[in-house]
Amino acid sequence: SILIVDFGSQVTQLIARRVREAGVYSEIAPFNAAEEAFARMQPKGVILSGSPASVPDADSPRAPDVIFESGLPILGICYGQQVMTEQLGGKVEAGESGEFGRAFIEISDDCVLFDGLWETGERHQVWMSHGDKVTQFAEGFRIVATTEGAPFALIADDARRYYGTQFHPEVVHTPDGAKMIANFVRHVCGCAGDWTMAEFKAAKIAEIREQVGDGKVICGLSGGVDSAVAAVLIHEAIGDQLTCVFVDHGLMRQGEADQVVSLFRGHYHMPLVHRDVEEMFLSGLAGVTDPELKRKFIGKTFIDVFEEEAKEVGGADFLAQGTLYPDVIESVSFTGGPSVTIKSHHNVGGLPERMNMQLVEPLRELFKDEVRELGRELGLPDAFVGRHPFPGPGLAIRIPGEVTKERCDILRKADAIYLEEIRNAGLYDAIWQAFAVLLPVKTVGVMGDGRTYDNVCGLRAVTSTDGMTADVYPFDASFLTRVATRIVNEVKGINRVVYDYTSKPPGTIEWE
Ligand code: XMP
Repeated sequence: SILIVDFGSQVTQLIARRVREAGVYSEIAPFNAAEEAFARMQPKGVILSGSPASVPDADSPRAPDVIFESGLPILGICYGQQVMTEQLGGKVEAGESGEFGRAFIEISDDCVLFDGLWETGERHQVWMSHGDKVTQFAEGFRIVATTEGAPFALIADDARRYYGTQFHPEVVHTPDGAKMIANFVRHVCGCAGDWTMAEFKAAKIAEIREQVGDGKVICGLSGGVDSAVAAVLIHEAIGDQLTCVFVDHGLMRQGEADQVVSLFRGHYHMPLVHRDVEEMFLSGLAGVTDPELKRKFIGKTFIDVFEEEAKEVGGADFLAQGTLYPDVIESVSFTGGPSVTIKSHHNVGGLPERMNMQLVEPLRELFKDEVRELGRELGLPDAFVGRHPFPGPGLAIRIPGEVTKERCDILRKADAIYLEEIRNAGLYDAIWQAFAVLLPVKTVGVMGDGRTYDNVCGLRAVTSTDGMTADVYPFDASFLTRVATRIVNEVKGINRVVYDYTSKPPGTIEWE
């Protein structure tokens, strides 16, 4: 295994992810708990993360000395490189100007990290994000790559198996970074690279049992993949100590609510409370057109209903949530200052304190595609696990203007046709999210010999890796024409279809 010492970088979890991708188990320990983790894990190597701190500052964090005394390989990334340099006797200075974003390194010498990857003399793209820099490396090191702004972009001490990168190999903007990390954990540390999601599952199950003991856990199902995977995993760990509550707000896609109920009751035989509250949600949404008011009403009502059901179940000690890593970073502002609310996200935040429950969040370190893999590992059907993300407030935020039962039904039909065509064309998995929206605009059309005056349907499809940024999916014109024709012919209430060509940013993925 590999120990990742965390100095508080925003992207430490990405290091863990790259190590997992290389088929190696890792654990992240904050720098001040790293010594204990090191003793317990007995890892084959250590990676030191980046940090918002500055090595020249007197109170900035350091790596525990045992790591250097152990004789194990170490990879220091950014702050990790600097702190390693300083602790081994080199020098780090606060830079007058930092280096942020894309940079090109020039390979000046060979290095085991470049195995099968880079040759001396080549230039390659990397991602930089640093203010300080190493100005004199510690004894035993040599330079193997440089950039204009960082003469010590990559340094190596082959005898001690110490490597330090000024750039961030863990982010996707360093295209070969994942392979470089794989070279470190496999070729330098000698890890076998045969660790799998099955082992992650086993470790999480043990962790959940340890945390929960014989306590009771309650889990809100949204119909989405994340909460379903969390619920099935927890059920495997503690069986019927878990109760799932499905607050069915009637704003789901076609057939989705039934799918959730039959999957959990029929397939997994899990205790499931299904509360049909469509009426309550629709009457509360009557006359509401402001997107934030819709979101707030739905979020609050969801929590109220969930809380009622939780009380009914009685005495839950834990609240389970399918929080993913991107949800964790999105909620932590990059600068530490207050961040602007673009949209009020729908989750059950605030509820644990109100009900005096502790959180169980077994997916906190995973990314969406890893959750899908875990879901498959847990036996969830492919079609369910591979489903596009769906927002908590559901169709309400895909119906600009007032939400009514009638408009939900119209939208569900159009959306189902669109998704069916996407599946038939074999494009579903290439798209991050595709959905229809129903606009509060009527336009004139002609069908047969008659005039129509009906709603406009918008189609959206984007590619993305995490939902934070997105590109428009470039369908063939013939595909869009086919979908538009089918929707106008088959869905009463729609007589015109448009396609949304806006990326994120400046648009958001959802329309509200
Ligand atoms: P936006 O529209 O902000 O969406 O670009 C980014 C991703 O988040 C999803 N989304 C939500 N998911 N609760 C959720 O669980 C919400 O309130 C919510 N709002 C947006 C959206 O579908 C996209 O995947």
